Amino acid sequence: MKGIVFTELMEMVEQTFGYEVADELVEENQLPSGGAYTSVGTYQFEEMVILLQSLSQKTETPIPDLMHAFGKYIFQTFKKNYPVFLNAADSSFDFLESIEKYIHVEVRKLYPDAELPTFKTNRISPNQLEMYYFSERKMGPFAKGLIESSLEHYGDQGDVQMSKIDEQGKEVKFIINRA
Ligand code: HEM
Repeated sequence: MKGIVFTELMEMVEQTFGYEVADELVEENQLPSGGAYTSVGTYQFEEMVILLQSLSQKTETPIPDLMHAFGKYIFQTFKKNYPVFLNAADSSFDFLESIEKYIHVEVRKLYPDAELPTFKTNRISPNQLEMYYFSERKMGPFAKGLIESSLEHYGDQGDVQMSKIDEQGKEVKFIINRA
């Protein structure tokens, strides 16, 4: 998993729970990398799991809630670092539909070792989009946060319903309504 995901997680932890908690995460866990993350590095996904489990215990916050908050947080960074992807789409649904065929394709060109999910989209009606998420990493709630922030970015009111297709959350269905 790319370094930007780790540096942003640690930044969110510092801002939300304080510097001490961020420090403890690194000190109290046997992290393969030692915990000194750089945005240009690449780290094992297992390390993200360790950090989220530990943070969940410390803050008594369920892991899906942490992932969801992290999705919303990282959207702001994507917006700052990759404005071209947001400018390329005229609406929230156009943007969400462009992830699979454009955005993550470009991401993979930049970072050939990126671990990305697969999305399938289906426009049910002008204001309803169905989106399927597939990934071994089971980060559906993270995707939900990103989707909600995407709606907000384009000025849409709306809601996002998430349901697991398989027990583990490797396959997730989103129904996205915009007003
Ligand atoms: C400017 C827009 C975006 C950029 C630049 C971007 C880029 C990235 C990058 C760099 C990663 C990490 C890959 C790795 O660590 O190996 C990632 C992962 C991910 N992205 Fe995107 N992304 C964007 C928008 C979105 C949106 C809107 C969604 C929500 C539907 C999304 C869903 C995900 C998910 C769920 C992952 C985690 C990996 C997984 O679940 O397998 N991305 N993306």
